[in-house]
Formats: sequence, structure tokens, C-alpha cells
Amino acid sequence: MSGEQRELNSWVFMVTARAPTNIAVIKYWGKRDEKLILPINDSISVTLDPDHLSATTTVAVSPSFSSDRMWLNGKEVSLGGERYQNCLREIRSRGRDVVDEKSGTLIKKEDWQTLHLHIASHNNFPTAAGLASSAAGFACLVYALAKLMDIEERYAGELSAIARQGSGSACRSLYGGFVKWDMGKERDGSDSIAVQLATEEHWEELVILVAVVSSRQKETSSTTGMRESVETSELLHHRAQEVVPKRIVQMQEAIANHDFASFARITCVDSNQFHAVCLDASPPIFYMNDTSHRIINCIEKWNRFEGTPQVSYTFDAGPNAVICAPSRKVAGLLLQRLLYYFPPDSSKELSSYVIGDTSILGEIG
Ligand code: ADP
Ligand code: DP6
Ligand code: CO
Repeated sequence: MSGEQRELNSWVFMVTARAPTNIAVIKYWGKRDEKLILPINDSISVTLDPDHLSATTTVAVSPSFSSDRMWLNGKEVSLGGERYQNCLREIRSRGRDVVDEKSGTLIKKEDWQTLHLHIASHNNFPTAAGLASSAAGFACLVYALAKLMDIEERYAGELSAIARQGSGSACRSLYGGFVKWDMGKERDGSDSIAVQLATEEHWEELVILVAVVSSRQKETSSTTGMRESVETSELLHHRAQEVVPKRIVQMQEAIANHDFASFARITCVDSNQFHAVCLDASPPIFYMNDTSHRIINCIEKWNRFEGTPQVSYTFDAGPNAVICAPSRKVAGLLLQRLLYYFPPDSSKELSSYVIGDTSILGEIG
């Protein structure tokens, strides 16, 4: 390589982004198209505070890179999978001319097809443990790449439709606050996008607590669990066709009206029905464990004793609880209760803390 070429090849252009995770209060569970990741029902979620549960991803491009590579939490992972490939292809095809101001380098839009990328991502919470790391991860990846290649959406939700092809739940993490994923009707998935229902300021008093029951990687990934449920559970089809459409309407109303009692009731029953679907699959899939069940029991008893929901619980595809409280005062009472009934194991690193709107309650399993 000549000196001049070395000079030309010495630039690296990079962008870093952070995206929070989101927790569904009406669950997405089941695909009608596995390739494009098109769901069988609408879903609604709350995007968490990025200070606590988020993915941070740096994407870099340089002529000195000889292949696309990715590191997740410090370990190299393969980008060969269809999901990464679909996201990279969709993003690259929308890349625009970019001038890197630091080096003065012009990257022409056609260059994005041939230049290679290095991607490094880190989650500040357990990966593949049912706290929606795939949502934060793919939303962050797509957002960071879009920034790198100076992509602007041609229609609202275009980036969410790309993130969706990485992991369904990721489309909702591109927006803050309360978000709905419209399942859409089109066969190409162009209308299967996320829309923001309300910003987080709309319901500022709502506090979300994450109780990490186990940070271990789950045995059955969301993708596999969902596929097996679609193939074997009758309840899943009843849920998608008869139950969820009504709940979506009710949940939107509850959010619009700050109606915590309805919000909490629908959140809990929807989580329980999603786990009932998993149990209805053959063979059954268990995402919750004994500690998860004890948390449900504790909250149900408290809510029944008070006569109106004090807090809600929801569990994604994993044993970890996400609990919503209508105010910091109630969240404080909840923390006291949980710490009493589930004292954090001192042999484990995590302990409980509350900062901002989202709290993480350490390992209680
Ligand atoms: P979770 O409940 O954490 O979402 P999933 O089974 O849905 O678990 O997805 C886990 C997978 O998501 C990981 O194995 C990895 O492929 C992908 N993933 C997680 N975090 C990231 C990230 N930061 N960037 C890219 N992909 C990620
Ligand atoms: C239970 O989005 O992780 O968290 O689309 O196959 O990547 P893939 O699955 P994923 O599934 C999330 C399921 C859920 C409910 C939800 O987030 O709506
Ligand atoms: Co996931």
C-alpha cells in the first residue's frame, strides 16, 4: 500500500447513540410473517428512562475495515443472521451523501453499499433476560446507523419499520412515552409501524420499577417462544382476534384519561393472559418463576385489600417484574413492601435504588 493510499484510508467516521428499552402493557406475542416480523395483534408499551435501562451503540465506518463486524457487551457476535442483514440492507439503501467535518471526507451515497461497518453495543441491564434488550438494541442500532448515513424518514414511522425487522418490540423504542405498534395490513409491512400515543410528560406521575428476579439468559428466546405459541396454542388465536382489539381501545382511553385503575387492571390481565398462552403452548413454556408468582400474589393481595389498584405488574418473556405505581409516594410504599418480602440477596451485586422515574430493585431471586 502506498503512502497516499494509507493517508486516504486512515479516516474513521463514527456515531454513538443510546436507546431505552420499552415494556409492553398490551403484549405483542405472535407473528403473521416471520421474515418481515409482522405481528398478529397491535401492542402498547411504555418507554423507560434511558438513564436506567438502555443500549448504547457506536457505529463506525472506515475504508480500512474489511468486513462488517459487531461486538455486543464486549464479545464479538455474528452479523450473519437475517435480522441484522435486513436492518443493514434497508438502512444502507437509504444512505445519503455525508461530509465528515473532522476529516473533510466526503462519503457518497453509493459508498454506503461497499464501505464496511464496525458496531459496538453495550446494554446497561441484563441481556436476553426478559427486559426487552432486543428492543433497545435494534432501536439503537437503526437510529445510530440512520444518523451515521444522514437518513431522514420519508414517512413517519419509516425507521420504526426497519427496527421492527431486527426485533418486533424494537419499533416501539424509537419513541418515548406511551407507544402503540399498529400491526398494519400491508403485506410489505410498510404500515406495521410504531406511533407515539402520548409523551412521557403526559403522565409524569407514573413511576416504573423494575424488579430483577434473575439476570440469567432465558432458555427460550422470545422469537422461539412466539413461534411455538403460534403453532400450538389455540388460546393465542382467541387472544389476538377477540381479546386484544378491545383492550387496545380501553388502554388508549386509560392513558388519555390518566385512569390508573383501568391502566393497572388491563396491564395485569394482559400480562397474565400472555403467560397463559405460553402455558397453553405444547410443550408449555415457562417464563416466570416462583419469585415472579410471589410478586404477583403480593401485589394482588395489596390491591384487593385497598379495594382499588395501588400498583400494576407486568412480565415480559422472562421472570423479571415491571411494576407501575401512580405516584412516587405509592412507589415508595411498594419498594418498602418488596424489600420486606424479598430482601435483596447480599451475595449479589445489585441493590435497590430509585432515581428519576424508573427504579431498579436489585436481584431478589
Ligand atoms: P430480551 O427479552 O432481552 O429482548 P430476546 O430473546 O428478545 O430477549 O432478544 C435477545 C437478543 O437480542 C440477543 O440475543 C441479541 O441477538 C439481541 N440484542 C440484545 N441486545 C442487543 C444490542 N444492544 N444490540 C443488538 N442486538 C441486541
Ligand atoms: C413478551 O420483540 O423480543 O416482550 O420480534 O422475535 O424479536 P422478536 O421478539 P421480541 O418479543 C417481545 C415479546 C414481549 C412482549 C412485547 O414486548 O410486546
Ligand atoms: Co426481546
